[in-house]
Amino acid sequence: MSSLPSQLAARIESVTGVDPELRPATKPQFGHFQSNVALRLAKSQGRPPREIASDIVAKLEADDLVETPDIAGPGFINFRLRSDVLAGVASALISDPHAGIVQAETPQRVVIDYSAPNVAKQMHVGHLRSTIIGDCFNRVLTAQGHTVIPQNHIGDWGTQFGMLVQYILEHQVDVSALDLPAAEQLYKDSKKEFDADEAFADRARRRVVALQSGDEETLATWRSLIAVSLAGFNATYARLGIKLTDDDLAGESTYNDDLPKVVAELKADGLAVEDAGALCVFVEGEDAPMIVQKKDGGFGYDATDLAAIRRRVGALDADRIIYVTDVRQHHHFDMVFKVARLAGFLPEDVTAEHVGYGMVLGPDGHPFKTREGGTVSLNSLLDEAEEHAAPNIALAAIKYADLSNGLQKDYVFDAERMVQTTGDTGPYLQYAHARVSQILRKAAAQIDPGVDPQADLSAMDWGAVTVIEEPAEQQLALLLSRFGEVVEVVAADLTPHKLCTYLYDLAGAYSSFYEKCPVLKSEGEVRASRLALCAATRRVIGTGLELLGIDAPDRM
Ligand code: ARG
Repeated sequence: MSSLPSQLAARIESVTGVDPELRPATKPQFGHFQSNVALRLAKSQGRPPREIASDIVAKLEADDLVETPDIAGPGFINFRLRSDVLAGVASALISDPHAGIVQAETPQRVVIDYSAPNVAKQMHVGHLRSTIIGDCFNRVLTAQGHTVIPQNHIGDWGTQFGMLVQYILEHQVDVSALDLPAAEQLYKDSKKEFDADEAFADRARRRVVALQSGDEETLATWRSLIAVSLAGFNATYARLGIKLTDDDLAGESTYNDDLPKVVAELKADGLAVEDAGALCVFVEGEDAPMIVQKKDGGFGYDATDLAAIRRRVGALDADRIIYVTDVRQHHHFDMVFKVARLAGFLPEDVTAEHVGYGMVLGPDGHPFKTREGGTVSLNSLLDEAEEHAAPNIALAAIKYADLSNGLQKDYVFDAERMVQTTGDTGPYLQYAHARVSQILRKAAAQIDPGVDPQADLSAMDWGAVTVIEEPAEQQLALLLSRFGEVVEVVAADLTPHKLCTYLYDLAGAYSSFYEKCPVLKSEGEVRASRLALCAATRRVIGTGLELLGIDAPDRM
């Protein structure tokens, strides 16, 4: 079922022939929605807007949804949803298995490329954002009934592994005994030796060839580096409550066998041409070509991403592909999409989107760095937040801070502010959830004094919302009725901040309701109806937090 405003909009459009562009009313006395459609039609129809507005109102068949609309000012039409309709929608939310999230009419196969850390390096702040944002997209699209296929494009291939493996073998390091920070240290040490010692650099280069040609000893060391790294990544995913598993891994190395095929196809199409010894694809309007194969025969990041898109469409059968990386990779993906379209790897009916995010800034407003000037590891950020709050609250704080601003914006990592339970924070929403849970728990105990205080509140029967008379009740129910629509917008535009804003507003509407409309102290039908409204609120806040990947506690 579509949301109330879209149902209403469709009815109006069948009279006007154009989108009424319903907007939430600016004041409660204007009802719930307002449309300026009559003003827009006035010119083409050559009639006064108020006259057009009364025509629309006369022809509109929507009295099952709204009260008789008012015409205001120069010709605005104000709509007020019927109380029983609002009550019905709020009631339905309590028991709807999808909590009001509209199920996709044509479910898609959506590939989401996110997290993607690099082997033998700890995950850093940038990966924090990719992981949290990608996880949120995964949750939102899955909730709509799409099939999400996460692809963790880990950096597990490249010339740096020649250097690293050579160093390990020469120093007889037992990689299996290492953890990820120790492996990262090895990486730094080997790089130092590579830069300082020409003979070592040569041996490292020969090691790259051995790795590429499948030398067993080299591969075994490389594999153990991957194992150590994955153990570290998985520990971080568990800590973050992220739904990525080893089944979602599709690292750069998995495209090795595809790369020569990609290049052969590009050549056969006449797209890849030799330029100064390298194989290049020139794209109209771009200054520099994409280099698909270097002079020395090696393939790089670009070619690997072409192979990845080819597999995602070909083997994974994707309808939509989403990449979540830092904004600075925007041009890279723009080129990859263009070349993939030209090559036919990415047909017209498959969409590809790059979602770029901004940087995480330190409290001084500058990019986050360690005291020594290095990149800050993701785990140390989590540690810092946990100095200020319990793990589930610290995590809520971080995820909400990450998702609640436009993704492209940089944001300041201010743990102390982020963990506050007041203001626009994750813990504030958790607190709202705990507060509404507490009322329901008290009510449950009044109804049945023997009830287990730990019992699942979602599994109890909260009846129906039947009385919606107070403005605070109306506002709350109205916001609840918008949840499905908000999720739809977030899924289409990939804008989690809109869900955050919605939940923040909802928590505010709940607070006003709580102040103005006694629940436990009221009686009879009003009490039962308000409890049901609380249950619907709890359901929506809980579901919304789940979509953000944030734990919704019953107690705080
Ligand atoms: N490993 C890369 C990094 O750490 C991100 C990879 C993103 N995905 C992709 N298909 N290129 O920056």
